[in-house]
Amino acid sequence: MLSLVLPTFNEAQNLPELIPRIEAALEGLEYEIIVVDDDSPDGTWRIGLELAKSHPSLRVIRRVGRRGLSSAVIEGFLAATGDVLAVMDADGQHDTGLLAQLYESVTRTQGIALGSRYAEGGSVGQWDERRHLMSRVATQLSLRLCAVKVADPMSGFFAIDRELFERTRPRLNSKGFKILLDLLVQIPKDTAAEEFAFTFGSRMHGESKLSGRVQLEFLEYLYDVTVGRLIPLTFVKFCIVGAFGVLVHLAVFKLARHLLEGTGDDFGFRLSKAVAIEVAIVSNFLLNNVWTFSHVRLVGVDALTGFFKFNAACALGALADLAVADYLHRSSTPETVAVLAGAFVGALWNYGMNRLVTWRAA
Ligand code: GDD
Ligand code: MN
Repeated sequence: MLSLVLPTFNEAQNLPELIPRIEAALEGLEYEIIVVDDDSPDGTWRIGLELAKSHPSLRVIRRVGRRGLSSAVIEGFLAATGDVLAVMDADGQHDTGLLAQLYESVTRTQGIALGSRYAEGGSVGQWDERRHLMSRVATQLSLRLCAVKVADPMSGFFAIDRELFERTRPRLNSKGFKILLDLLVQIPKDTAAEEFAFTFGSRMHGESKLSGRVQLEFLEYLYDVTVGRLIPLTFVKFCIVGAFGVLVHLAVFKLARHLLEGTGDDFGFRLSKAVAIEVAIVSNFLLNNVWTFSHVRLVGVDALTGFFKFNAACALGALADLAVADYLHRSSTPETVAVLAGAFVGALWNYGMNRLVTWRAA
């Protein structure tokens, strides 16, 4: 049996046209269709549920509070009952005429079969030069990582043997768009992968969701499966935020020192340093929450308690920071050096403690 997953985000207009097309293409085969919709604002899920009443082979999974093509496909596959799992765009860009061939291929090889825009006879259709170039660069970069090489590892149109998927799933990365690529990276080298050329059609309605953010996620993915195996991306991001925090820290310190001119030298130094520390803590918390730990971002009350935890965790770091800076300052180290040395000690402490208490699920 074939389980076809259709990931959707704002495809309300396309679904009613696509489902009959798929059914016509799969006539005579045993199949199910699973729409995985991320609570689309245009109500794709509602259209899907409506269609399901008259199309018994159709089911809808509506995910709330989550986004992402790869994770949607993975969840669809997990809910599927077929022995062959397939996925295609829900906008008409993929050739339904190929579905039966993909199914047949996987049934025979127990590997992967893909609709390929770069195989002999295939084409990307009407793309502007920019997207064309991006796609080629992404393909070249990612091919180096693949255990099994194909001409179009970024295709969003493929079928895979259920058992093979099950075995690979624990290692899959659910970020972004590149589910096929990730499978090709993780599967055993000797897995069969057949390609079927097709021309990437144009969208029936609506627009592409391949945004700048998705492109960034692709670069993150490349990092994750290479250097990231040794140095996690969250650590690198935390350090970048920390480095930026040091700049904030220094700028605020200079400003406060300027404003507090005239007060006693030691007092002015300590107060300016303390203000700089707290402003840097606030800015670091915000940046880490929206960027470094965006996958476990704290919102609402959690963000508030998280902020207090962050502060508490940073408090000891801040004391150490202040003590180091004050000591160096009193032993007549240049001010800037004293301030930076203190901040560095504080930063090391902060990473360790906040991984432990603030964004624990990371
Ligand atoms: N559930 C869910 N959640 N579905 C999504 C999301 C999401 O966050 N983002 C996109 N989709 C759905 C779309 O609604 C569509 O059915 C399918 O996933 C592919 O998204 P498109 O927006 O149509 O992508 P594209 O046509 O620009 O990109 C195609 O080519 C890429 C490589 O060049 C797709 O086939 C990609 O899979 C492929 O990687
Ligand atoms: Mn598409």
